[in-house]
Amino acid sequence: MQVGSKYYESLWFDENDPGEVKVIDQQRLPWEFQIVVLENVEEVYLAIREMTVRGAPVIGVLAAFGMYLNAYNHADDPQLQERLDHAAEYLISSRPTAVNLAHAVREQQKVYYALSDLAAIPAALLKRALEMLEAEKVACRRIGEYGYALIRELSENKKGKPVNILTHCNAGWLATIDYGTALAPVYEAHIQGIPVHVWVDETRPRNQGARLTMWELEQAGVPCTLVADNVGGHLMQHGMVDIVLVGSDHTTQMGDTANKIGTYLKALAAQDNHIPFFVALPFSTIDMALQDGITDIEIEQRAARELIEMEGMMGSQLKKVNIVPPETPVVNYVFDVTPARLITGLITEKGICEASEKGIDSLLEQ
Ligand code: MRU
Repeated sequence: MQVGSKYYESLWFDENDPGEVKVIDQQRLPWEFQIVVLENVEEVYLAIREMTVRGAPVIGVLAAFGMYLNAYNHADDPQLQERLDHAAEYLISSRPTAVNLAHAVREQQKVYYALSDLAAIPAALLKRALEMLEAEKVACRRIGEYGYALIRELSENKKGKPVNILTHCNAGWLATIDYGTALAPVYEAHIQGIPVHVWVDETRPRNQGARLTMWELEQAGVPCTLVADNVGGHLMQHGMVDIVLVGSDHTTQMGDTANKIGTYLKALAAQDNHIPFFVALPFSTIDMALQDGITDIEIEQRAARELIEMEGMMGSQLKKVNIVPPETPVVNYVFDVTPARLITGLITEKGICEASEKGIDSLLEQ
């Protein structure tokens, strides 16, 4: 995506610097646009854990590069496979809900388990990581094309008046490699000249909507308005939302979907107001091993300080202040599960389907 005069992806590898991968620091946006260089698996782990890089598809690809960097940095280790096994579990432990992470790491394990020549492992892991990066881009572009058809239809029904889209968290290009999942159809509609307007939930406690989605949409020139987290229901009751588009961190075989905390409440409000609620996701986010999202998906809990503190710009410095006393008892669940019955459909790179085992299978059979 264009940032000022330059095109960026959220993560990239330069073959002239084979010992590093570069990412955009999502903790500094929208205040500062900074690039961070990651050189080893520990730095990759921390970038994911501390959310310098966040969003299910991109952390999967980054973890794949983390496996490569570990092999590249320890290419002479006679115990390289054991070392990589250790790195795999370490990376997977960085964030438990986003399934792309575990998928990507397990894919890399298949690569080195299949090789008896240890010297061939770094190059093979790099090749696979680059393939995953390309595949995510292609998937998001297709999600954009399929989702665009839904927005075009709404626009036709509204006789060209702006289509109002509500989104939660950040499921744009920062969270993927390029385009996004939930935002890909929005970008496509905007490029095709369809008038759209996006309501952006702030997405407490880390404010990915306020800080990242607003920044992305403004960079792309898409009309958007920030709203507090719980405004969505009110907007829906007053006919101000035509469609809800969100991403996914983990979708089960039945279509149940874990996404940023608060997504479930938007789905309930959407159903009550007869508003279509779509989840946009690549197949790399679907976990065919799980059935019931509520019982089977592990929900990440993060540090209490994310709720106790608030971060913002003071003068020219990014500062944190306590918004409640530091000893306040806190629980910080960061994802929730929206049952498939509340989801109008899944927008994937293979097409749009019902959020159900039958729907997902129908796309897989194609
Ligand atoms: O905690 P985060 O910021 O990693 O959560 C991200 C989300 O919930 C996104 O909606 C999800 O990863 C889909 S991204 C295309």
